[in-house]
Amino acid sequence: MTARIIDGKKIASKIHDEVKVGVRDFESKYGSLPGLAVVLVGDDPASHSYVKGKEAACAKVGIMTETIRRKASITQTELLETLGRLNSDPKFSGILVQLPLPKHLDEDAVIAALDPAKDVDGLHPVNAGLLMLGQPRFAPATPLGVQRMLLEENVNLNGAKVVIVGRSKLVGMPLMALLLQKGPGANATVTVCHTGTKDIGNETRQADVLIAAAGFPGAVTADMLKSGAIVIDVGVSRVEDSTKKRGYSLVGDVEFSGASEVASAITPVPGGVGPMTISMLLVNVLQAANLAAATSRRSSNLR
Ligand code: GUN
Repeated sequence: MTARIIDGKKIASKIHDEVKVGVRDFESKYGSLPGLAVVLVGDDPASHSYVKGKEAACAKVGIMTETIRRKASITQTELLETLGRLNSDPKFSGILVQLPLPKHLDEDAVIAALDPAKDVDGLHPVNAGLLMLGQPRFAPATPLGVQRMLLEENVNLNGAKVVIVGRSKLVGMPLMALLLQKGPGANATVTVCHTGTKDIGNETRQADVLIAAAGFPGAVTADMLKSGAIVIDVGVSRVEDSTKKRGYSLVGDVEFSGASEVASAITPVPGGVGPMTISMLLVNVLQAANLAAATSRRSSNLR
């Protein structure tokens, strides 16, 4: 079997077009643009490259964006002050703190300091809780992107066995919550594998849909797949590659060539989940702007 390649770029471009229309509608209704503040601390090259991608995508669909760059030496108090200012700045409907943060900063406290109504990453405890309760407001962009990809590919998740490898707060955990809800693009039986799982291959071989989000190359190999499985690779790692001008290549968590012989469909890296993550962030920013505008309209009607 040679797997069909799921083209994340193509689906992402369709979503960009939808968001563009939504931004135009927003502007004609409210006379302003949705705005995203990105907080980037330190000089991690991968984070800088991700943020560049987010800025470019916002510009393409007409979302106003500003990146607030801070030195790696920033203190927790200074960072919380910055977030406080962004929380009360009405030109930003969404705020995103690029992760990971330098080790001396308390990531959980930083996320908790965000206004949950502006938390377009869906990581604030209120938003994570709403998602767990089946009342999602903002779900993290990567899990949303994976779900949308499966919907666009007409994968029936109703009663399907989904196995997620990895339990991170950005991907594995929220994806589990999304896919086990009732409704379209969900209602699956979800298993989450992690470092404590006794025999990961035994779990993954039962998967109709395997989602790899472990964060290291080779985490999923061909022998871990059921024949005909659908494979979604969330991993992105830089591996040294002297044939490339930049000195590295991007690879996923799945050993691609072997897995494509067993799977019925598979996402490539790059060009799979990555572009979907950015698109769903744009969707969340537009949603945050619409929610904020509707809320302020309601409260001004009360005055
Ligand atoms: N770092 C890697 N992926 C993400 C993401 O989706 N959001 C944030 N805030 N940081 C990240």
